[in-house]
Amino acid sequence: MAELLSSSTSRMISFVGSVSSSPLIRQSLMSRTAHFSAIHLPIKCIQSTTLSSSSSSSSSSSFCAGARIQSLFNQRFRRGFSVDASRRDGSGAAAAAVSAVSDRDQLRSAREDIRELLRTTFCHPILVRLGWHDAGTYDKNIKDWPLRGGANGSLRFEIELKHAANAGLVNALKLLQPIKEKYLGVTYADLFQLASATAVEDAGGPKIPMIYGRVDVTGPEHCPVEGKLPDAGPASPADHLREVFYRMGLNDKEIVALSGAHTLGRARPERSGWGKPVTKYTKDGPGAPGGQSWTVEWLKFDNSYFRDIKERRDEDLLVLPTDAVIFEDPSFKVYAEKYAGDEDAFFEDYAQAHAKLSNLGAKFDPPEGFSLD
Ligand code: HEM
Repeated sequence: MAELLSSSTSRMISFVGSVSSSPLIRQSLMSRTAHFSAIHLPIKCIQSTTLSSSSSSSSSSSFCAGARIQSLFNQRFRRGFSVDASRRDGSGAAAAAVSAVSDRDQLRSAREDIRELLRTTFCHPILVRLGWHDAGTYDKNIKDWPLRGGANGSLRFEIELKHAANAGLVNALKLLQPIKEKYLGVTYADLFQLASATAVEDAGGPKIPMIYGRVDVTGPEHCPVEGKLPDAGPASPADHLREVFYRMGLNDKEIVALSGAHTLGRARPERSGWGKPVTKYTKDGPGAPGGQSWTVEWLKFDNSYFRDIKERRDEDLLVLPTDAVIFEDPSFKVYAEKYAGDEDAFFEDYAQAHAKLSNLGAKFDPPEGFSLD
C-alpha cells in the first residue's frame, strides 16, 4: 500500500473535462463553473483496486486507502452490490456487479444521471471514446460470443484498460462507476453505449437510434487481445483504417462519418503520445487544462472537424495521419467533402454509423434488443 500511495502521488492524472468557446456553451460553462472542479485520480490505485464511487471527488493521495475501505464497505453492506474487493483474478479493476440483463426503466434513470454527470463534469469526449473502444474490438470473422469482441463490457477489466490504445479511459470508467452501482439492472455493456450516445446528443449531435439489452462478459479472460483498435500513425493510413474497420464490418462511409466524432475532445501526449501539451483552445480547462483538440469548440458536436481538416488554417488544431487521409483517399474524400459542406448529411450518417458501432459483437437479451423511447 505504501508503494501504491507514493506511486499514486507521483502519477496523479487528471480527468479531462471539456470547454467550448461557443457563446452558448461558454455561457453554460460559466454558469456552472462554480460547481465544477477537476477530478484528479491516481491511476495506479484505480487500476489496483475495485472501482468505487467513494472516491469520485477525492483528489488526495489518501484515495487508495479510502477506496479500499469503501470497497470493503460496498462488499459487505451495500444492498445488492456484489463487488469482492479482495478478489484478485488478474483483472484487478472490476470483479464487479454483473447484471445478467438490463432493465428499461433503470436504463432511463441511468440516462438522467449521465446527463447530470455531463452537466457537471463536461466529460462528453471521454465517454464517447469509452463506448467506441469497448465496441471497436469486434471481429466479424469470429462467430462465437464473446470471442468475437465488441460491445460486451470487457473494457471494465484492468487487463484491457491497460492496452496502450485505452490510455486514460480508466477515468471514464471511474466516472460511470457510481451510476453502475446505483443501477444494478444495467449492464456495463449497455451503460458504456448509453453514456456515449447520450454524450453525443447532449453535445448537440444527432439523436442516435440506439437499442439496449447488451449482455456483459463475466471475466477478464473474455477481454480481446491487444491491437484491435486503430493506430493513429500507421505507415499507410488508408489501408490500415480499412483493415481495422472492415474487420468490424464497417465501410468507407462509416469510417469517415465515425471519424467525425473527433469534433469532440482532445489528444494528450501523456496518454496517446499525440497532440500538443496545450493550445490556446485547451489552456483553460475545465478539468485539467491541456491537450490538443481537433476543433475550436471541442465540446460541441457539429461538422467543424471536417471543415477544419480541409482548411488547415490553425496550427493549434490537431490532424492525425488517420484524420488527414479522409481528404486524401479518393473514396474517403467523397464523404469528407460532403460532410464538410452539409452538416445534416453528416448527422444523418453519423447517427446510423454510431448505432451500428454500438451494436457490434453484442449479445442482446431479448435478442432483438429494446429501445428506450
Ligand atoms: C479512425 C481511427 C481512429 C483513430 C486512429 C483514433 C485515435 C484517437 C487518438 C490518438 C485520440 C487521443 C486520445 C488521448 O490522447 O487521450 C483519440 C481521441 C478521441 N477519439 Fe478517436 N480515433 C479513431 C476513431 C474514433 C472513433 C470511431 C470515435 C468515436 C466514434 C472516436 C472518438 C474519440 C474521442 C471522442 C476522442 C477524445 C477523447 C477525449 O478527449 O478524452 N475516435 N482518438
